[in-house]
Amino acid sequence: MVNKVKEHTPVVAVFPGSFDPIHNGHLDIVRRAAAIFDEVIVGVTYNPHKDAALFTADERVEMIRECIRDLEPRARVDKFSGLLVDYAERIGAKVLIRSLRAVTDFDYELQMTQMNKQMRPNIETIFMFSNPKLFYTASRLIKEVAGHGKRLPELVPEHVMERLRRKLKVD
Ligand code: PNS
Repeated sequence: MVNKVKEHTPVVAVFPGSFDPIHNGHLDIVRRAAAIFDEVIVGVTYNPHKDAALFTADERVEMIRECIRDLEPRARVDKFSGLLVDYAERIGAKVLIRSLRAVTDFDYELQMTQMNKQMRPNIETIFMFSNPKLFYTASRLIKEVAGHGKRLPELVPEHVMERLRRKLKVD
């Protein structure tokens, strides 16, 4: 009897977000996801008409590229506008990765997951819990605290903090 070897189709996953800016909680997820999936695309979302982010999409991509250089080509960064599921379909990704911190994330994530499932039933969302040490790390709070001069070395890579300080005009 001939053994049939099942061909492995590479599983591509997108880890989407605003990443304004990326922090160690995000990076922990990228590293863990890259150990599971064949390819992980960190997808930076932007709105070409009205982007409320502090950093431009290209600045966010640059910072992320610098952070995940050692994971390439298994993990890489890209930017997209429009619907996440359309982007995922375009690049052949079957999985969306979202991270969960506290229970407060749950409702928002559930709504997004169900809406995405409605639009593209063939794409799965999977959740990864944040590293407990980085549980409360959030870009919004990092920007606020950095604006008052704190550097947060456990939460943010140094080069990201330097760019943040320049952007917020902190000496
Ligand atoms: O970092 P965030 O802000 O929590 O990420 C939210 C993100 C990027 C996943 C979400 O806003 C998104 O998917 N944006 C792209 C537009 C889209 O697909 N909207 C419909 C979501 S059901």
